[in-house]
Amino acid sequence: MKDIITLGIESSCDETSAAVVKNGREVLSNIILSQIDIHKKFGGVVPEVASRKHVEAISNVIEEAIEKAGIKYEDIDVIASTYGPGLVGALLVGLSTAKAMALSMKKPFVGVNHIEGHISANYIEHKELCPPFVTLVVSGGHSHLVYVKDYGKYEILGRTRDDAAGEAYDKISRALGLGYPGGPEIDRLAKEGNPFAIDFPRSYLEEDSFDFSFSGLKSAVLNYLNKMNMQSIEVNKADVAASFQQAVVEVLAEKAVRAVKHTGVDTLCLAGGVAANTALRDLLTKKCTKREIRFLYPSNVLCTDNAAMIASSGYYDYINGYTSSLNLNAVPSLKIGDRK
Ligand code: KG4
Ligand code: ZN
Repeated sequence: MKDIITLGIESSCDETSAAVVKNGREVLSNIILSQIDIHKKFGGVVPEVASRKHVEAISNVIEEAIEKAGIKYEDIDVIASTYGPGLVGALLVGLSTAKAMALSMKKPFVGVNHIEGHISANYIEHKELCPPFVTLVVSGGHSHLVYVKDYGKYEILGRTRDDAAGEAYDKISRALGLGYPGGPEIDRLAKEGNPFAIDFPRSYLEEDSFDFSFSGLKSAVLNYLNKMNMQSIEVNKADVAASFQQAVVEVLAEKAVRAVKHTGVDTLCLAGGVAANTALRDLLTKKCTKREIRFLYPSNVLCTDNAAMIASSGYYDYINGYTSSLNLNAVPSLKIGDRK
């Protein structure tokens, strides 16, 4: 069979990225230009600034991806771009560029769901991975437990009812006076603290529910910091970071393992920016080993936003006969499994 080369483009938040992927799994290039240093001073992503920076960077990032992959533009078989969920102005930059390229090069175009992209990162990392499996997708904007029944076929088992896991990390990091993004900062500091020093609440919701809720935990940590401040007691930041993190990862891991048992599959995958978290990886490794579940996660560069995962997701859509119209618009609140 002829090789299929996919150009992937991602610009849904604060990373401008383009990648060339062969047959959905082999990364020939994956260029990621992060805007983190620009947004850092505001403590979070400023949407208008993000859009402008994407516009400035997108052409060069694509050119670099083509060059690094050692291919010519004519070698591209299909162009895939994120069209949601994400920041509308940011999404439009990558999406418009991808559609313009598809039109001028007369190539098929596939609009990709960003969360489905995160799920596909594991196809790149683990060449032998095939559905069905369960994925815990935890990022700055999303927390989902997804039953991947087949390529492109998803059933959402649970989702967050308020904050995403990464969002909780970012907010607590800010409250502790640590940097942005908060996940890596808390991950690092937590290693110096005692995860059982402070008993923060674990929100399991109803029995049997696969949903998550992190707002109660977030309030509990903020209340604790306020109380200590009012009593002029110096807080042990490492203990707070470690105890907060322990409360997050215990609930995530417990529900993820339960979802695997519920569906009867033998594999659990982790995806999204929070999949880079060492405590979450360690706890899931332990729990899955004990229950004889195969546990997989992508390398750090494929956890956070990147275009290689978008190319992989777009490739599987394409070979399963699904392409998008060039009228496709950005959908900021796109749901998993929606087809536009
Ligand atoms: O997937 P991603 O790059 O963007 C979204 O689609 O949201 O995820 C970014 C999120 C941020 O909230 C960041 O704090 C979190 O992933 N993150 C981490 C770690 N590395 C990144 N959270 C916990 N531990 C980490 N090591
Ligand atoms: Zn993401």
